[in-house]
Amino acid sequence: MRTQIVAGNWKMNKNLAETETLLSELAAKLPDTKAEVIVAPTFVNLASAVKALDASDIQVAAQNMHFESNGAFTGEISADMLLNIGVDTVILGHSERRSIFGEDDALLLKKVETALAKNMKVIFCFGEELEDRKTEKHFEVVASQLKNVLFGLAPEQWSKIILAYEPVWAIGTGETASPEQAQEMHAFIRKTIADAVTPTIAENVTILYGGSVKPANAKDIFSKPDVDGGLIGGASLKSDDFIAIVNAI
Ligand code: PGA
Repeated sequence: MRTQIVAGNWKMNKNLAETETLLSELAAKLPDTKAEVIVAPTFVNLASAVKALDASDIQVAAQNMHFESNGAFTGEISADMLLNIGVDTVILGHSERRSIFGEDDALLLKKVETALAKNMKVIFCFGEELEDRKTEKHFEVVASQLKNVLFGLAPEQWSKIILAYEPVWAIGTGETASPEQAQEMHAFIRKTIADAVTPTIAENVTILYGGSVKPANAKDIFSKPDVDGGLIGGASLKSDDFIAIVNAI
């Protein structure tokens, strides 16, 4: 049985007071669930989030990190700094990091290698752009994103990898991939990993769907056999919506 996960990517939202309010609401409303629940507040609020969730089952992730351990990298945060405040999970490769901040596969490979060397869990995001889908290149694009960053990993490193398929055209747009489109791509991802890595790893890896998941569509998406949960942006910023999505698992 694969681990099911609902993760909230708060992006550049919520100041300290708002973070504390949302976290206390989430902790109070969290249902008994078989899903792992993760939230990713901004860097400046991670330490207080870890403290606020001390007695809760909700885990805390960072939205990014640098691949070096320290040094002259103005504005950056290292794996050791995250681990030092109790954060052992990091989102890497989000489409906003790729498109707005120019992160490419070569850079992401270094980040993933560092995170795994530090024994962190990685939520690795990837997905095609609208143009790729229109020109029917979406499978090819996704296969290459996976290959370039993950296919050189040692088999035992895969236990720390969580995949998040996020078609760029569905992120923050209100446009969701249909449950069938999500299932089709997730099945393709599993098959690609089975062929390139091992069938066991393909079977065991958690694959989240992300892109305009809301309470109204979560159940249909999560009901698909190869979808193991979601990475939630906008709807993770309201406790009732996020909890409703957790309940859809
Ligand atoms: P969204 O964002 O749910 O607001 O579409 C998802 C994401 O960017 O992870």
